[in-house]
Amino acid sequence: MVTSRQWLIDGRPRGRAVREDDFKLVETEIDAPGEGEMLLKTRYLAFDPAQKGWMENIADYVAPTEIGDVMRGSAISEVVESRGGKFDKGTVVVGSTGWTEYQVSDGSELTPVSDELPPTAMMSVLGTTGMTAYCGLFKVGKPVAGDTVLVSGAAGATGSVVGQLAKLSGCRAVGIAGGADKCRWLVQEAGYDAAIDYKNDDVRKKIGEHCPGGVDVVFDNVGGKILDDMLAHIATKARVVVCGGISRYETGDMPAGPQNYFNLIFRRARMEGFIVIDWAAEFPAIRKRMAGFVKDGKLSYQEDIQHGFENAPRTMQRLFTGANRGKQLLEL
Ligand SMILES: NC(=O)c1ccc[n+]([C@@H]2O[C@H](COP(=O)([O-])OP(=O)(O)OC[C@H]3O[C@@H](n4cnc5c(N)ncnc54)[C@H](OP(=O)(O)O)[C@@H]3O)[C@@H](O)[C@H]2O)c1
Repeated sequence: MVTSRQWLIDGRPRGRAVREDDFKLVETEIDAPGEGEMLLKTRYLAFDPAQKGWMENIADYVAPTEIGDVMRGSAISEVVESRGGKFDKGTVVVGSTGWTEYQVSDGSELTPVSDELPPTAMMSVLGTTGMTAYCGLFKVGKPVAGDTVLVSGAAGATGSVVGQLAKLSGCRAVGIAGGADKCRWLVQEAGYDAAIDYKNDDVRKKIGEHCPGGVDVVFDNVGGKILDDMLAHIATKARVVVCGGISRYETGDMPAGPQNYFNLIFRRARMEGFIVIDWAAEFPAIRKRMAGFVKDGKLSYQEDIQHGFENAPRTMQRLFTGANRGKQLLEL
């Protein structure tokens, strides 16, 4: 038996910002693993804007959550005891194990971390984030060399990878992010051709200046007014990839739709949403390819590592204030 702290869901932050009191910290006794099971000790938690939607039960691609459930989320854990379980003691694994310090598992939903990059990469560039960038861009956006690719939320974990993959495919990449620092980083470090600061620039005007021939692929992580501004500049036969809409995650039940959607008609364009897990069977192959890009120095990624299990709710809030620099992680 081991004592484990756990964060439980204690509120539904629908139509507002997520608050610390939407969570409750408890201590629970975890039973020793049985035959064929393992005791896992969590090392890192990963944070994704979608977790807010899971607390609100607005997403139907995952099972609903209940008040009192352990907060759902991905984590890297170490097997600290194995009683003939799927993995040996000492194996480091990744899975959706939630906000708990310890847990018992049969290993069925766990993947050992890749030894090609540091373990945390399995939650950033080789994890859901990297897979989202890759699948959203290539399977939905379908860029061809010479295209202009415009990315919102460009300095984030997903967006920064999208821009680099676009460049690797011979495209021009333009990013939209909040603040001069992030925009400087996009151009100087992440290899974007140009960056637009949505907090200080006239976004619609700047897109026109940076994308004079129109935008062939829009990769939208933000929604709202920024999506409208991007739709105003799509090229003929553009592909608008709807990855996320973080500007709307704190607004009411029915945010207004895009005003500029008529441009989809005028430009004979396509707008398509996706859920990355639909390509889960391809993740091992994509992961190998992405690891190769990183090792060859063609793809860089940022991780923002906070510390302390007690800081999990505050760490999640960082995604919605833009405080995070790259993939938001928490080391326990
Ligand atoms: N479709 C899928 O299968 C799938 C899978 C995973 C993730 N996603 C989506 O991908 C997007 C990016 O996720 P991520 O994990 O990579 O997070 P992230 O981009 O690393 O972090 C979120 C960023 O969003 C920006 N942001 C926050 N509030 C904003 C607002 N009101 N307006 C404009 N920008 C705002 C902030 O950057 P600034 O400082 O630039 O504002 C913040 O750093 C999210 O929309 C997420 O839901 C989709």
